[in-house]
Amino acid sequence: MAVTSRTQVGIVGAGPAGLLLSHLLGLYGIESIIVENRSRAYCEARQRAGLLEAGTVEVLRSVGLGKRMDAEGMEHGGIYLQFEGERHHLDFRSLTNGRWVTIYAQTEIVKDIIAARLAAGAQIEFSASEVAVSGVTSDRPVLSYLDESGVAREVSCDVIAGCDGFHGICRPLIPNLSVYERTYPYSWLGILADAAPSTDELIYSRHHDGFALYSMRSPEVSRLYLQVPPDEPIGNWPDDRIWAELQKRFALDGWSVGEGAITDKSVTAMRSFVAGPMRHGRLFLAGDAAHIVPPTGAKGLNLALSDVVVLAAALRAALVSQSWELADAYSDTCLDRVWRATHFSWWMTSMLHVAPGADAFESQLQLSQLRYVTSSRAAALSLAENYSGYKPLRFEH
Ligand code: APR
Ligand code: PHB
Repeated sequence: MAVTSRTQVGIVGAGPAGLLLSHLLGLYGIESIIVENRSRAYCEARQRAGLLEAGTVEVLRSVGLGKRMDAEGMEHGGIYLQFEGERHHLDFRSLTNGRWVTIYAQTEIVKDIIAARLAAGAQIEFSASEVAVSGVTSDRPVLSYLDESGVAREVSCDVIAGCDGFHGICRPLIPNLSVYERTYPYSWLGILADAAPSTDELIYSRHHDGFALYSMRSPEVSRLYLQVPPDEPIGNWPDDRIWAELQKRFALDGWSVGEGAITDKSVTAMRSFVAGPMRHGRLFLAGDAAHIVPPTGAKGLNLALSDVVVLAAALRAALVSQSWELADAYSDTCLDRVWRATHFSWWMTSMLHVAPGADAFESQLQLSQLRYVTSSRAAALSLAENYSGYKPLRFEH
């Protein structure tokens, strides 16, 4: 017999989406439980992107999660675009009336929210197994799982939030799902290196041998990416080859990439994926459970956090004021933002990567587009507005 309990919101997944949702609901006085099948250590160590839109930063600050981000995060007022051996600066602050982005790793956000939730006495069940959701079309859906010590538990909820990422169990519970998908014929090889960044802002470089991105994590640690073939075995990339390729793709007279010990190396596939509706009955999807973007432009984390800002407000209206209008609008509200980011990340990806077999016609189109965004104020403004966050959200206290 399972041990039964009761809460208002059952959350599947302790990634950024599930964690922030639990935190925001807590601010509204709504009780939740998070059930996560990985360990806390695993969730806190997973390497992901690390770029926050200005609006995301402001939301995190306004809900009491800004302390370490403000101390350790790095504000950037623009980016560099490099192509044909020239590096061009886009100044977001002057283009957009002061907007910026902040470099602060997703792993750090995850650590900050876990610490805040545990300090507030919230229940997070790490290392759960056999996680299942049932009864989503009734008004008492059930979240069931085996806890870390193997005890079967069943939590009766008002609603369930599926924040369980792309491979989770919640999305398949939505019938008649429409799925829109694109895979890209390349991957990113990402490294973390103990090397002080050689640049003050991120460099997106289109080179005829492939794309490269120079990002960073701190004044001592650089994060760099190289376009590689899809499913590239990591073994093909000894450290020396990585540095040589980075030097080549970022080459500029009088400048070079500062090298250091590589502490992490991984290959990430690139895809766009949007599934809707993001709600069925009393089940709501948020974050990677419903949509994936390619990493160019770093929208994934920002979208996941935006979803749960919208969801928290909708659940407050539903559970505190018995008004389900915002819940009814939830999927459309989120998908509007998701599609804008899907277009932007697809566009950035297509402009900067060299597809296998791409011909001279395609190269000329990419170069023309790059020349346009680095010479037309209107085109640069469009990039800057999308990059730093179109239609920033607020959390209504
Ligand atoms: N039961 C419980 N937890 C699960 C299950 C399951 N069956 N399946 C997956 N999970 C957990 C995963 O272990 C993970 O911790 O759900 C969590 C989902 O977290 P993320 O994948 O980080 O997704 P999300 O919170 O939506 O954040 C999106 O992650 O992939 C990046 O670029 C993306 O930055 C974006 C962010
Ligand atoms: C990162 O720092 O990991 C990062 C930054 C910008 C991107 C993608 C990834 O476009």
